[in-house]
Amino acid sequence: MNVLRMEDLDLAGKRVMIREDLNVPISNGKIVSDARIRAALPTLLLALERGAAVIVLSHLGRPAEGAFSPEDSLAPVAQHLAALLKRPVRLESDWLSGIEIEAGEVVLCENVRFNKGEKANDDALARNMASLCDVFVMDAFGTAHRAQASTEGVTRHAPVAAAGPLLSQELDALGRSMLQPVRPLLAIVGGSKVSTKLTVLSSLLAKVDELIVGGGIANTFIAAAGYAVGKSLYEPELVNEAQKLIRRAHDNGGSIPIPKDVVVAKTFEENAEPQVRNVDEVADDEMILDIGPLTSVAYAAAIAGAGTIVWNGPVGVFEFRNFAAGTRAVAEAIARSKAFSIAGGGDTLAAIDQFGVGKEISYISTGGGAFLEFIEGKTLPAVKALQDRYQTGA
Ligand code: 3PG
Ligand code: MG
Repeated sequence: MNVLRMEDLDLAGKRVMIREDLNVPISNGKIVSDARIRAALPTLLLALERGAAVIVLSHLGRPAEGAFSPEDSLAPVAQHLAALLKRPVRLESDWLSGIEIEAGEVVLCENVRFNKGEKANDDALARNMASLCDVFVMDAFGTAHRAQASTEGVTRHAPVAAAGPLLSQELDALGRSMLQPVRPLLAIVGGSKVSTKLTVLSSLLAKVDELIVGGGIANTFIAAAGYAVGKSLYEPELVNEAQKLIRRAHDNGGSIPIPKDVVVAKTFEENAEPQVRNVDEVADDEMILDIGPLTSVAYAAAIAGAGTIVWNGPVGVFEFRNFAAGTRAVAEAIARSKAFSIAGGGDTLAAIDQFGVGKEISYISTGGGAFLEFIEGKTLPAVKALQDRYQTGA
């Protein structure tokens, strides 16, 4: 990719502002998963090793702009980052007016989304950020699909702008799976709604050899294939769209398989009584919460035969013990496969953690929305800004 890379720059004595995506799940002040913080560490350590003064930017959650809200403060992240880096991390709240920092120090600027104009990519705000550094490093792959002041805007205005190692690594891994895949290329897309992933499904169809859908998305496809889905979560208004996708897959010589069997329950509860049903036997008062054992075997075989696997979204309610078997089977089949496998998205990462298969997946992305937009073939605005600067030599 044609971008300037942080690894190639002289950072000694420079004020290096690094945009990371430290938007981690926090519950009661405790970090639930620190995967994104750990993923950022090599970049931060490299900058420190090169003698930089390191200014870290991140957002957290979706606070209202123009006000501080304690629940969206990066304070827990600063504390955790300091522990992982084994050095102090100063959390700076009024950073737009100037940051005092020496080489070897780390300052974490308070949530960029507290600033008015962040989301709208306000030019003055982006310039303000740019004025605080000598080098800006865009490393937040998880936020690269957002054209915001601390991602796209500051990239255009900083004295020097470069891609960080994490961003480069993410783009390389995704490029390997989507742009030069070893065939057959299999995508597994789960999640609750077709509506949020319709464009992904549609663009994936043109690129993949096989597409497996899971979760609520699969229910809509089951309905599209003419089966009753009872009380299952599904989107009746998208059944038509799903039928079109099934036809398109067939026309391309591929398929979107429909589960042969499913696991149903009468209530949506952890301990609801699970029943295995053939897909044509779901009763009016039942809801589909997982794929059945025959389907698990079929999907595991498809996974075993793939040359490249892209995984986003669970195939069942894996958070409930009784409905986790399908997602576990998928996760374990991917882990066994010799194919290049890449996984992304919050739920997917939680499933990977739950089933302990992280080490066997070739690449685990820190991106959710950014991961989906990349596999859709969309341009990520912050990456485009880096490419533009490289091309014009600015
Ligand atoms: C994410 O977790 O999706 C990224 O951090 C981006 O956050 P956003 O969806 O609130 O823009
Ligand atoms: Mg998001």
